[in-house]
Amino acid sequence: MKSNPLQKRRFQPGSLTRADLQAILAARTPAEIENVRRQAHAVLLEHCGPEVYYRGLIELSNDCSRDCLYCGIRRSNRELKRYRLSEAELVEAGRWCADQGYGSVVLQAGEQHRPSFIREIAASVRRIKLATIRPTLPEGLGITLCLGEQTRAAYKLLRAAGAHRYLLRIETSNPDLFARLHPREQRWTTRLQCLRWLRAAGFQVGSGVMIGLPGQSIADLAGDIEFFMAEDIDMIGMGPYIPHAGTPLGQAATLSAPERLRLSLLMIAATRLALPDINIAATTALQVLDAEGREKGLHFGANVLMPLLTPGAHRGDYLLYPGKPLQDETALAWRAAFEARLLALGRRIGRDQWGDAPRARK
Ligand code: 5AD
Repeated sequence: MKSNPLQKRRFQPGSLTRADLQAILAARTPAEIENVRRQAHAVLLEHCGPEVYYRGLIELSNDCSRDCLYCGIRRSNRELKRYRLSEAELVEAGRWCADQGYGSVVLQAGEQHRPSFIREIAASVRRIKLATIRPTLPEGLGITLCLGEQTRAAYKLLRAAGAHRYLLRIETSNPDLFARLHPREQRWTTRLQCLRWLRAAGFQVGSGVMIGLPGQSIADLAGDIEFFMAEDIDMIGMGPYIPHAGTPLGQAATLSAPERLRLSLLMIAATRLALPDINIAATTALQVLDAEGREKGLHFGANVLMPLLTPGAHRGDYLLYPGKPLQDETALAWRAAFEARLLALGRRIGRDQWGDAPRARK
């Protein structure tokens, strides 16, 4: 039998070429995939350690002024009950996290542009920070925001309020593909501008992409990782594209679920090898394709997990895509089972810490 070099190939952490990225994404046999996974995992342990950091995910509103062709909470979707959590609910969720030893929360919402929205979020950020100061967390919870494209002034206001990380996915590094996934009013160049404003405002900046989009090539995915390198991204949240039948893109042909899972895990591994000291999340969408999708993500080089804390009454209304697991991840039984699986993988929870990426601390 002809031996396949990909089973043995060693990659140079921190200096992956375009050819390396494409080779990794082409891994198919169990031996090839395991070779990539093992190297990514070793690089993770060396540069970030075995800790997995929790970010309690609070989806504070599903109102959205955008109409992305793939997303279940797009403004044209009339099937949804739109909601907004109160400040008291946000503070309560924050307190719960701090009490549990989760060092951080993510406040996520559909994109909204009323100036009062940003002022209200800034006020909630301040209240959460104050309410979560503990001997174990002298500066309160770490707060990550995920509120889409905003003005430079809005980003400055939110940073001044005390949030210190912001996630804004580029969705795809290919501007032509981006244009096919969004209405004309949304521009790839605006996304990029926003990422740079976020950095200038003093945020640690996160970005990410969807994997397995209709019309997306392996070269596009390799380009996504090159984009993360070029923009010096501190943290990544990326996951498989999940077709949503209630959206314009929902019927378009795409890769099979196993292919999207394989590529998503290889994207995590390749990103870890390319950028050894960043944070990478094992995202919820992975779990739509595999009951242990997030654990697999952690095994392929991810080190952040975002347990869903959105109150039960609203959890089903924040459906970006179908099949989102809606189990109560605040339940002790879920957490105990999850943490047991982590320990079995040689990992542990990083408690009472913000868990910033080593790169961001430099
Ligand atoms: N499948 C996977 N991810 C999706 N998102 C939105 N819709 C989908 C979908 N159908 C992701 C986008 C967005 C993030 C909040 O959710 O990448 O940035």
